[in-house]
Formats: sequence, structure tokens, C-alpha cells
Amino acid sequence: MKIAYAQNALPQSGVLAITVSQGRGLGSLGAELDQKSGGALARAMEAGRYTGKADETLTLLAPGGTEYARILLVGIGAAEKVTDLTAQSLGGTVAASLARAGDPDATLVLDGHDGLVLAPATFAANVGYGARLRSYRFDKYRTKEPKDQKPTLKKLTLATTEHSAAKKAYGKLEKIADGVFLTRDVVSEPPNVIYPETLSERCLALTELGVKVEVLDEKQMKKLGMGALLGVGQGSAKPPRLVIMRWDGGEKGAAPLAFVGKGVTFDTGGISIKPAAGMEDMKWDMAGSGAVIGLMAALAGRKAKANVVGVVALVENMPDGNAQRPGDVVTSMSGQTIEVLNTDAEGRLILADALWYTQATFKPRFMVDLATLTGAIIVSLGNEHAGLFSNNDELSQRLTDAGLKTGETLWRLPLGAAYDKDIDCDVADMKNIGSPGKAGSIIGAVFLQRFVNDVPWAHLDIAGTAWTKKDGATVPKGASGYGVRLLDRLVADYYED
Ligand code: BES
Ligand code: MN
Ligand code: ZN
Repeated sequence: MKIAYAQNALPQSGVLAITVSQGRGLGSLGAELDQKSGGALARAMEAGRYTGKADETLTLLAPGGTEYARILLVGIGAAEKVTDLTAQSLGGTVAASLARAGDPDATLVLDGHDGLVLAPATFAANVGYGARLRSYRFDKYRTKEPKDQKPTLKKLTLATTEHSAAKKAYGKLEKIADGVFLTRDVVSEPPNVIYPETLSERCLALTELGVKVEVLDEKQMKKLGMGALLGVGQGSAKPPRLVIMRWDGGEKGAAPLAFVGKGVTFDTGGISIKPAAGMEDMKWDMAGSGAVIGLMAALAGRKAKANVVGVVALVENMPDGNAQRPGDVVTSMSGQTIEVLNTDAEGRLILADALWYTQATFKPRFMVDLATLTGAIIVSLGNEHAGLFSNNDELSQRLTDAGLKTGETLWRLPLGAAYDKDIDCDVADMKNIGSPGKAGSIIGAVFLQRFVNDVPWAHLDIAGTAWTKKDGATVPKGASGYGVRLLDRLVADYYED
């Protein structure tokens, strides 16, 4: 769906959405329309006990005295409480409510409400952004979907007093949405379509945006000594890849910010195989890398003034005659050896080499990794927050703040020597699991910490947030694209001049 901006005026006919502020009611154009329709809007609001609470909607079909097929009332809540996020949510609600209204076009009137704390252009840009984000759909494999279930809405026009400023502000946000959509696309794709090689091709496509992309194959990784990563991939018929993406929008030679993603394109668990039920979910075990790819697209798309490197470790974790066994000892690029006691704790193994490689190669200002690392983080935090682990309070605080501003929230959990000793091992330098049933997500994090070499680092465990089974205001069910908005905001707020 396309977002357009136009003068603050009522169209003659078609599908119309009107904003209502809680406590203050219709805005100026809404009041004008109410008058024209002989008070139809006010009567409907009264009859429907409609007060304009945030995202509350009321639909009037073919209201008498007007030419409209449909008028949708949508609540902005209390005008004083409107924020970027509530504006996005409002846009998402309108997009979802009108998606199947029948018309290819609709107009949403954002006319002057008293008491609005956001500038009109910011308000309108964020409403458009939310609408765009919510309109995402992954339906390329549905060849027989009934027509009446397909979305009809192709274009949503936002009518606002500041339409040209709004359009300009939306332009930047649209690039972030493009990044989110790319993430959602690659995460949604089935695992027979997206595997290390094909996912690396999606990365290569970013060269069109000015991103420099380098793809390392098995041979090159072997040469670098990435035994931990290669061990995970060795049971698969699909060879692994390590992709390095660079966006140099900042000062020449300045140390980059680094983002590292877990890209297990399918996680069967390997020889420590997972139960069959729900295993299909493990196609999205590459969501961390998906987020890094989408983030790079967003940053390059909006020409961020920062040097950023994105590294994604791409493997498929399969059981096979050649697969790694529980008990195998692998040597990581860092030189540290790992006893692999559970082949299903594979994310940390590939990240061990990706993190080590990233800090050694780029000497970054910080590293943030994203990974669907543990089922235990879903037990801890459900689907509401991603887990945050960090060796640096400043980075941690900045990430947390960016989370609150974008709605992609984080909750910090501890690291520490007491946890770290749980992965000490008699056979090798460490084992890849801790004590059964204990602090599973923290154990994953302290394992990764052994490969960051004192660079400021944060690990985001996104196993609970990468995929959603119910529609949200700006995130339709399916791949959420979690991480793109969060990390784009981190970069924008703290690392661009
Ligand atoms: N990819 C999984 C974690 C996961 C689980 C992500 C559910 C999304 C939803 C990861 O590779 C894994 O299997 N982790 C194990 C670790 C354990 C063996 C120490 C887990 O969480 O059970
Ligand atoms: Mn696993
Ligand atoms: Zn996994």
C-alpha cells in the first residue's frame, strides 16, 4: 500500500476516515462533515458510545446526506498524550480497518485537533509510517486466495495542513519501513527457498543501495579457523556463508558500529534433534540475520551518517551422517575450544566465530548481536520484550531507550562470573550448555561474552519477538521485523552527527 499526502480537505466521495480526539471530539473538518450529513456522525458516536479512545474505531456505511461509501471514525485518544508511537498505531489501525473496504483508495483526514502535542507534520508522517508498516503481507505463495479476502486498498491519502513537510518526514520513515519489509520477507520465506546461499544473494542485492557486500564461503571460513561455525553447518547439504555488509555514511576511517546476526536458516536441532511438533517455526531461526540485513537496507536507504558493518552467519543445522555429534570438540577462530554437548545450542557456536571475526577485523565502537538464541527467553519475557545482555551500561541504556521510543522493547538480564563458570568444562575450554533447567538465556549470553574480547557489546535474544502469532497495531501476524526500528533509532539518536 502506498501512502500519499494532500491538502487538508474533504474528498467528495469514496472511503473516508476521520480522526476523533477523546474528550474533544471531531476536528474541524469532521465537524464540517457532521453538519453536512445532518448530524449523522454525532448521532452514530452517541449510539455507539464512541468516545475516540486511542485506536477505537466506528464504521458508518453509506451514511445518508453524503456521497461516501464508508466513513471510518478512528480515535487518537487524549490529544495531549499523542506520541510518535500512538500516531503509528493509529495509522496501523486505519490501514487494517480499511484494507478490505472494497475501494483501492481512501482518505484519512488528520485535521487540526486542539491540544495535540506533536507537530502536525510529525503526526502525519508517523500515521503514514504506521499504516505502511501494518499493510505488509506475505502472500506470494497463495495462488487461490478468494478475491474477497485479498486486500483492496492500494493507496491511503493523508489529508493534513502541513502536507509537504509531512511528506518529507515520511520519506525517511518509509526507508525504515522498507528495511522492516525486507526483514519480514526473508524471515517469512520457507526454508527450501531461503538457505545460506540464497540468503547471501539477498544481501548482495543491497549493493544497489550503496552497501558493500562481501560473501565468505566454506573454504575462506576454514582458512580463518571458524571451526565453531563450520561444525554447525557440516550436516547440511547447503554450505554455510558469512556475509559482511558495509555502509560507510560517516566520517572516513572512523570506527564502525557493528551488528551481528544469527542466521540459522533452519534449525532441526541437529543430532540433538528437536521434537517434530512446531519444528516448522525454526525457519525463522535466521531472524537475527534478517534484522541485520533489514537494518543495513534502512540505514543505506535513508543515507545514515554513520559507518556501520553488518555481519551475518548463515548455516543450516541438520542431522546427517556427516553432522556434528554431541561430544565433538571444535576449535573456534579465537583459538578457544568448545565441547559441543548439545547440537541444538548452535546459535552461540556460529556467533562465537562471527563476533570474534567482527571485533578482530573491524575494531568496532560496539557490537550488538541479534539472535533467536533460546526458548528460555520466551519463558522469561514472553513476546513483550527481547532479552538484553551487555557488558556496557551506556550501550545498554541507549538500547533500552531506543526500545521505548520505537516500541521494540528490551529488558536487561544479568551476566556475571557466577553464571560464566557454569560453562567451564573438563574436556575443552568450555561447553556449549550449562546446567539443565537453569538460566538458559543467561548461559547463552555468557557463552557469547567469551568471544567479544572486551569490546562494548550487547546481545539481544529475540526468540520471543521475531515472530508474532497475533496482529499488532503496526505488525501484522507473522515475521515482525523486530530489531530494525530499534537499531535504526539507536544509530540515529546516538551515532550520527
Ligand atoms: N533456535 C533455538 C531457540 C528458539 C526456540 C528460538 C524457540 C525460537 C523459538 C535455539 O537454537 C535452541 O535450540 N536453543 C536451545 C538451547 C538449549 C539446547 C541449551 C533451547 O532453547 O532449547
Ligand atoms: Mn537450536
Ligand atoms: Zn537455533
